[in-house]
Amino acid sequence: MCEKEYTAWEDITKSVTLSLNKYLEQNRRVRGAYKDEEQTSADDGMKIDRLELQHQLFHITLDGKLHLAPIAENPRDVLDIATGDPNWVFDFAARHPSASVVANDLSPARPKRATPNIVFQVGEANETWTYSQRFDYIHCRQNHRRIEEHRLFEQGLKFLKPGGWMEMQELCNPIVSDDGTLAEDSSLAKWAKLLVEASAKLKRPADNPRNYASWMQEAGFTNVQTVVHKWPINPWPEDEREKLKGLWNLYNVLERLEKFTTALLTKALGWGREEVHALLVDVRAEMQNEDVHAYFPV
Ligand SMILES: C[S@@+](CC[C@H](N)C(=O)[O-])C[C@H]1O[C@@H](n2cnc3c(N)ncnc32)[C@H](O)[C@@H]1O
Repeated sequence: MCEKEYTAWEDITKSVTLSLNKYLEQNRRVRGAYKDEEQTSADDGMKIDRLELQHQLFHITLDGKLHLAPIAENPRDVLDIATGDPNWVFDFAARHPSASVVANDLSPARPKRATPNIVFQVGEANETWTYSQRFDYIHCRQNHRRIEEHRLFEQGLKFLKPGGWMEMQELCNPIVSDDGTLAEDSSLAKWAKLLVEASAKLKRPADNPRNYASWMQEAGFTNVQTVVHKWPINPWPEDEREKLKGLWNLYNVLERLEKFTTALLTKALGWGREEVHALLVDVRAEMQNEDVHAYFPV
């Protein structure tokens, strides 16, 4: 256990809210396509939309780019698999008005605003796709453990036009550090390993994204490239941008920590709730220790 005092949850929430609103204001051009004015105002309350926060984490990580694949300037047919809260799809459609974007999800989307070049499609991505068209670009973000990847790559390739691109954007467990500050015997490292072990037992391994490049090649893709970015576990980096990513990511993880850790460890490894809670007391503290330079590879 570390002896440092840790920031209260309310203070983390406040810092995240203020910094996120400032970032959104600075990037109003991007958000302006579909966000209401009041949603980007600095005195917006303390309610953080986690999917929006994650979207902005990707935004800052990729320097405002929505894709890294070298797609044509004016792609015509685009598919977003498991679109969720349609932040990415709205941004993409706004930037590429000539594209017709199919936004797939199991659940019906609740678009904040009608956008003529988005078609929302309710469908199970693991089942056989029945699209009548082929796509220039297929995008899938933050869906590992939800979608069976081998099948996804097989179907993706089949539904791409010649010369088309498929892109996966995923966070990968476990957290790591490059300088040894994530001690092997720490509760944080133990927690990180347990998540991977539990998810593997449930047959949805949380470290699958490490294999995407080789699995895509096995499926028949060529010119496969992996780009690794880092999401620091807290604001430990010196660099201002990395610090901001760390702050947002800290909120992102802490907000769901208990829910997903309890679900995984009780279901897959037979842990009791009290045992999970005891582990998480130390995990929460260590996760805020800025001497630990750990990050999620993204
Ligand atoms: C974390 S959200 C997606 C986030 C979104 N892609 C993004 O990057 O902001 C996960 C979404 O996947 C959808 N989903 C889960 N399993 C699915 C499946 N098998 N087929 C299609 N959608 C699925 C859920 O309904 C949910 O909206």
